[in-house]
Amino acid sequence: MDKKSRQEAIDELTLALLYLTRFPDGEGNRYDEIAWKNYDFNAIDRLDEEKLIINPKRKRGGGYKYAYMTEKGREKARELLRMMNIEDDSIYEKYEFRSIRPEEADEAAEIERICFPPNEACTKEHILERISVASEQFFVAIEKETGKIAGFLNGICTDEMAFRDEFFTDESLHDPKGKNVMLLGLDVLPEYRKQGLARELVWNYCRREEEQGRRRLVLTCNAKKVKMYRKFGFRDLGESASEWGGEKWHEMDIFLSW
Ligand SMILES: CC(C)(COP(=O)(O)OP(=O)(O)OC[C@H]1O[C@@H](n2cnc3c(N)ncnc32)[C@H](O)[C@@H]1OP(=O)(O)O)[C@@H](O)C(=O)NCCC(=O)NCCS
Repeated sequence: MDKKSRQEAIDELTLALLYLTRFPDGEGNRYDEIAWKNYDFNAIDRLDEEKLIINPKRKRGGGYKYAYMTEKGREKARELLRMMNIEDDSIYEKYEFRSIRPEEADEAAEIERICFPPNEACTKEHILERISVASEQFFVAIEKETGKIAGFLNGICTDEMAFRDEFFTDESLHDPKGKNVMLLGLDVLPEYRKQGLARELVWNYCRREEEQGRRRLVLTCNAKKVKMYRKFGFRDLGESASEWGGEKWHEMDIFLSW
């Protein structure tokens, strides 16, 4: 086998180290986590040029000590870890992230019933219909060992800008070419919570929809969840017009392309 060049090896090892040492920054930035970048400057520049990382720079000189990893960078790093036989984040070892399959629709409807009180949960009928019209936007985390759905995030696309309750109940509002996604449910089964699954679902969803050219994600949530979505990079737009389940809701959004 041909030997890898030193430069290629430095770039790959730097990328793997950035990936392994990254951590959530909790500041609500778009990439949600940061990685220290005090490695070979040229390698960092090359990774930036290849769009494997984003290397933020200060306008008036001097630099930040951290970088953000792009989705492309994370994917490549995961591939490298597999080749080097290094354990990945337990979340990617344990879960697969993908669109839902039609045969998983009943399971998803049951998860919605478990995760939300009856006045807030979407009915089985609407979950099934949503999956049949917008399965690409119905994103699941599958526990690899059991093949079961651990959690999901779903929504429908539209050119409309503001959230309205009809999105929950009228699947015909889904416009596959719509520039925005109205998010309709983030559910993680109780036994899978507090491992970062919701965070990963949201992050991967954003990147996928961004690749589809989508501009903005909008959601409603109760006051207690505002802080959580802020950590994921969403903005709080204040009280929503939604009266879903007879409750009060905050509207929040995130821009995907900038
Ligand atoms: C809310 C929910 C999706 C979180 O899932 P999860 O996989 O446990 O969340 P994560 O482990 O990814 O946590 C991500 C962050 O959100 C915060 N968070 C998690 N659950 C939260 C909750 N119930 N209330 C407020 N903040 C919460 C965590 O503190 C964490 O931040 P940290 O890493 O800085 O500690 C899950 O509890 C759930 O399905 N609840 C019922 C349905 C629901 O309320 N969905 C949201 C509707 S708007």
